[in-house]
Amino acid sequence: MDPLRRPLIAGNWKMNAGGSDGCDLALAVARAAAELDEVDVVVAPPFTALAAVSNELYNKKSEVGVAAQNLHWEESGAFTGEVSAPMLRVAGATWVIIGHSERRQLFGETDEMVAKKIAAANAGGLKPIVCVGETLAEREAGETLAVVARQVKAAVIELGRAGGEGVVAYEPVWAIGTGKVASPEDAQEIHAAIRKLLAEADAELAVTTRLLYGGSVKANNAEGLLAQLDIDGALVGGAALDADGFGKIAEIAAKLARQGKTE
Ligand code: PGA
Repeated sequence: MDPLRRPLIAGNWKMNAGGSDGCDLALAVARAAAELDEVDVVVAPPFTALAAVSNELYNKKSEVGVAAQNLHWEESGAFTGEVSAPMLRVAGATWVIIGHSERRQLFGETDEMVAKKIAAANAGGLKPIVCVGETLAEREAGETLAVVARQVKAAVIELGRAGGEGVVAYEPVWAIGTGKVASPEDAQEIHAAIRKLLAEADAELAVTTRLLYGGSVKANNAEGLLAQLDIDGALVGGAALDADGFGKIAEIAAKLARQGKTE
């Protein structure tokens, strides 16, 4: 973590907590994060709970932000089952996760589609959290950096248009939901490479863009990862469904941010 950037801890609920259980979870996260002034905390409920969660957080005057997990690049029209940026804004979202590996792998999202979605987020006033990361086969073939570079390069123009508000989440696919976490050193190496790629496009963008690590982040492994210079936060899946554990990860980020400021 670098004191230049504010830490961001985002919880991706995936296809869970889509009803009143989502409101309960969001309120528990709001309580856990209430005193954590040094860190941005975001929750990403399924579409069905977005508006209700946003309302609950608004009513409680919580600073916890709301992200959608996906969007369509068009504003409206005949796209059955899809949801657009303006709709997400109306539902109270201010963030959107784009290009998660589950979307890329299970729903055929390409780098091109990801770029179009980032453009739509920018146009619709949503801050994009763009996911990149290699599969196990790609890692074993020694292609990690090439894959991540391809994904980042495909996104960089639109990330530039997001100014410093865009976020890149490095999530090695083999670490997602598997309990296998990248070592802090390995994760730092890839984050530094991503920052370098951003710098090649725009030096200011590299300084302002927050880079998150994702993949089996838990309260008991977060500190080593978040202590790395180029890791500005975490995108948390499974552990985000437990407000206490998720709150602990945010607490660790806040503690490291305080330490960084006094050093
Ligand atoms: P995980 O998921 O924390 O359950 O590994 C992370 C993600 O998919 O964003």
